[in-house]
Order: sequence, then C-alpha cells, then structure tokens
Amino acid sequence: MTAFLLEPASAPLRGYCTVPDDKSIGHRSLMFGALSETPVRVRGLGGGADNRSTRAAIEAMGIRVEEAGDELVVHGVGVDGLKAPAAVIDCGNSGTTMRLLCGLLAGQSFASSLDGDASLRRRPMRRVVDPLTRMRAAITGQPGAREGEVYPPLAVAARRRGDWLQAIEYVLPVASAQVKSAVLLAGLYADGVTRVVEPGPTRDHTERMLAHMGAPIRVLEGGVVELSTRGWDRQLAARGFTVPGDPSSAAFLVCAALVAGAERVAVGDIGINPTRTGFLDALAAMNARVELEARRDSEGEPTADLVVSRGAADELAGAELGGELIIRAIDEVPILAVVAGRASGTTRFRDVAELRVKESDRIATTCAMLRALGCEVDEQPDGFAVEGKGGAPFTAARIDAAGDHRIAMAGAVAALAADGPVRIDDVDNVATSFPTFAETLRGLGVALEVV
Ligand code: S3P
Repeated sequence: MTAFLLEPASAPLRGYCTVPDDKSIGHRSLMFGALSETPVRVRGLGGGADNRSTRAAIEAMGIRVEEAGDELVVHGVGVDGLKAPAAVIDCGNSGTTMRLLCGLLAGQSFASSLDGDASLRRRPMRRVVDPLTRMRAAITGQPGAREGEVYPPLAVAARRRGDWLQAIEYVLPVASAQVKSAVLLAGLYADGVTRVVEPGPTRDHTERMLAHMGAPIRVLEGGVVELSTRGWDRQLAARGFTVPGDPSSAAFLVCAALVAGAERVAVGDIGINPTRTGFLDALAAMNARVELEARRDSEGEPTADLVVSRGAADELAGAELGGELIIRAIDEVPILAVVAGRASGTTRFRDVAELRVKESDRIATTCAMLRALGCEVDEQPDGFAVEGKGGAPFTAARIDAAGDHRIAMAGAVAALAADGPVRIDDVDNVATSFPTFAETLRGLGVALEVV
C-alpha cells in the first residue's frame, strides 16, 4: 500500500498541465462503441484503471479493441452482436462499469456475472436492480451491511431470443447518472418507450453520445429523457469520440492553485459540459477566480483551459452549497471541502447523502480529513459544515485516504497549505482516475514523494 509525503508549498504554483481523459466519457465511448455497426475511433483515452475495467469487460464479450497510435479503435458488433463472456466480469473499483453493464446485460440472450474489488462489493446495487427488475430483467446479488440492499457479485439471467424487456417510465429516487444510463441502455432492448425522469441535472453524457450515434433518444423539458425503439432499425454508428480532460481531475489542480497560491496555473483541454462544472460555480460562490480560456467544441462536448492567475486563500469566503449545484459537483465535494477549510467563515454542504455510498463514506472520510487538518466540522446524515481557517495554515497531519482516490488527492492538495509535512496513507486507488497525479503536481512545483 503506497502513501504520499508532501511538504507545504514554498512558492506560488505555476505551469501548464493536462489531466487524463474524462472517466465518465471513457466508459461510455467503450461500451457504446461496442454496440456500433462500424468501428469507432476513440481519441484521448489514456486509460485510468476504471476505464481499463470497462475495456476488459467489452473484450470479454467479443469486442476487439485495437491500439492505433494515440487512438483506440473499438470494433463494435452492433446492438445485438455481443457474445457471452467466458468468465465473471471483473469491474475492479468501478461502480460506473458495474451499474452501466447491468443495464446493457439485462437485455442479452446470455447469462453473465459481475464482480469487483472489496470496495465495490460494499456498494449498493439495488438502485439498478430495482428498475431493471421492473423492466423484467432478472438480476440477483448478495445481502450485506444494509437490510434489503443488494451487493455484488451480481448474476444477470439470459433472456430468451426475441423476448423484449418491458419499457417503463422510471422516476429516479436519487439523482444518479449511473442509474439513468443503466435504464436507458436496457431501453435499447425494450419494446416501446422507456422514459427516465431525474430530480436534478446529473451528467448527460449518455444522452449526448447515444444521440450522436443515431439512437432514438430525446431529451424533453423537466428532466425527462425518452428512448423509443418503435420503428427503430437497431443501428448505432459513430465515426469516433474525442475524450476531453476530466473536469473532476482538473478540479484538484485548480483548487491546489487556489489554496496554495499561484502565479498562473493552466489546466488544458478540460470538458466543461455544464452538468459537470458545478465545482466552478461553487468556487465562484466562494469568491475564487477561475478563468475559462481557449473554449472549443469537441464532438458535442465543450472544452476549455481552466486558468488560475492568482491563488489568494485570504480572499476565499464560505458559501451555502446544495441543490442542483451540488448534483453537478458530486465528485468534487472532498476538494471543495478543502477550499472551504482555507476560506473565511462557514461553508455548508447540503443534499450530499449520496456521498455516503461512494468509494468510501465520503461524508465521514472528508470530515475526518478536515478534523485532522485542524478544522471544526459539523457532520450531519446528509451533509456537513466546515469552519474555515480564514487563510491560516492547516495543521500538519497524517491522513487516512481509506482507499478512496478523491480523498487521497484532496488530502494532498490540503498539504500544500499546512504548517509542516503531511503524510497520506492508502493512496493506491489514485490510479483509478488520475494515475499521473503525483508527477503533475510536481510539474507545478510541489514537493511530493510516493512511498
Ligand atoms: C458517474 C456518475 C456519478 C459519479 C461517478 C461517475 C457516471 O455517480 O459519482 O463518479 O459516469 O455516470 P452517480 O450516478 O452514482 O451519482
């Protein structure tokens, strides 16, 4: 098990950097590419471990993925061409791989099984099993910590050839792009109109990318997405996808510049799809200045460089963060909490109960990290409040990342503004989303050792 050792920043951070490809778009490029009638060229997919799990899963179902320079070519076999995997599909640490695959596998005429690492085996799967069961799929899992919940490994039963799933209207009980996507993927194998209604704006990559491939999908007013297989020729095709830099990874570098001070830090080619940039709105509410430069459009996904010209911790102010903004910043809460710890005044994070079932219980692990750094924290079942230190340094500490990549990286950023060296334990899983995190921070002038 590796650890990060960091020294506080001795000078303002500076430099230009990029981050790995967007994990969410990467998963979908691979899975949707597998369903294409034509080969799909995927540009920019560097392959964090989570995307590698998805790649191995589609390869296990007969898809050839060819490496051609800096592109991957996914040789799709059409919506009805997947083959039975010979063994259990290992989703590793990736909840997105498992939940989206449940939707895809629900309509297949072969049986399959899905498993993952110890952390994934603790994550709730009833949220996908319930709607898919209503669509008449048969998925069984294991009992576990919570009464009535379903945990991996999961077994998905085969459907008889020509036997459609039932199209349903599903009102999402919690805002989740993974559940929305699973139901829509199953909808490709359902007879009629599948409708998903979401309570808030979760990431919409599935809708954008399936529409780009000619799927019969429409986004209506009021958070309604509709997929109708009536009269559809069952053809999906795309020339390719370009995967932008992951805004969820870029957030760590932007916030590093803000909490440690910066002379100009630019993070290049980042996806700025509005369903992903809640963290930029949260930072603006906290009085931080982040500029968007070199805006472009890359096959339906907008991108830009994110630039911090001058990090100034003493200007950061507490804010109230909840509702639709927090849905669009759900993966960025741990790093926003570090910014809150440096700000003046109180920051309240509301409506984040979902964080209890991420790669760790992220309300608990974020609050534990902040307490170790000397901040006062008030933890609630569905949120927490942080008393900022008003620009004063964090207390040097030893932080347990609990195997959660986003806690490990948030802790490393906090270390830059501490009053002494900080050690962060259990950081191996940083490789799931941002394998080059340590080198990238070093490139901006940070002293970080991996031990
Ligand atoms: C993801 C959706 C989000 C997010 C996860 C990736 C996706 O999860 O936290 O990192 O790619 O669809 P939920 O849908 O469970 O909120």
